[in-house]
Amino acid sequence: MSGKRDPSAPIGVFDSGLGGLTVVRALAAALPQESLVYLGDTARVPYGTRSAGTVVRYARGCGRLLARHGVKMLVVACNTVSAVALDVLRVELDMPVVGVIEPGARAAVRASRTGRIGVLATAGTVGSGAYPRAVNGLDSRAEVRQQAAPILIPLAEEGWLDGDVPRLVARRYLEALFAQDPALDTLVLGCTHYPLLAETLSQEADRVAGRPIAIVDSGVAAAAELVQLLGARDLCAPSGPGSLRLMVTDRPGRFPEVAARFLGRDTDGLDVEQVDL
Ligand code: DGL
Repeated sequence: MSGKRDPSAPIGVFDSGLGGLTVVRALAAALPQESLVYLGDTARVPYGTRSAGTVVRYARGCGRLLARHGVKMLVVACNTVSAVALDVLRVELDMPVVGVIEPGARAAVRASRTGRIGVLATAGTVGSGAYPRAVNGLDSRAEVRQQAAPILIPLAEEGWLDGDVPRLVARRYLEALFAQDPALDTLVLGCTHYPLLAETLSQEADRVAGRPIAIVDSGVAAAAELVQLLGARDLCAPSGPGSLRLMVTDRPGRFPEVAARFLGRDTDGLDVEQVDL
């Protein structure tokens, strides 16, 4: 990595779409003085059902665009991209690149008393084996079980966060996960969208397991690690409060409603720009 980066430059954050705004929410809470530039590849979402090669290609485009905007570092909010493209981005971009899988794995190892950890994620993240690799890199005796949970994604986008339908869907996935290992004691929310369903997932996990299950939000874990990393690299913004700028590759009609749901506040007054990769 060459040259000293400007601490007053913004942090770049990208995701396959708008779900990564849950990570922006966590970053803004942990680092209120930092300015953030978010890129959501809304024209090509979802990434979670695509091949690893395609996700890497898309991720390169997103990373390069943010690099051209002069960001001081990159946060990959998308679990699927973090699972398959982080190494490529770290090699190709001349800046620190942080994903959500490693922080999520570290938080899960800390949270688990038995080392039996369950992960819900997209098919792409599950297929990559990135979570089991990251957890076993920290604790070789830990055991990770995974379950793809794709239907939770449209539920989160539609704002169906509690009630019968999300509860039943969550239960089906959790039953499949706990059938692999009834002794799991920790559940990683390994997808940008799942934090919106955290309460439903937590209640259903407790019900399926018959005891309390610890919940780990990878985005929150990444935000907490970023606080340390910025300090360690002398990259903390000198003054605040930070600003938020949004870029999207497509601006669907429901953008304000869906973005607000993930961000936890309305987008009125925010700088929103449509860009091409
Ligand atoms: N952002 C993706 C993730 O966290 C979920 C949505 C998608 O499939 O693109 O894996």
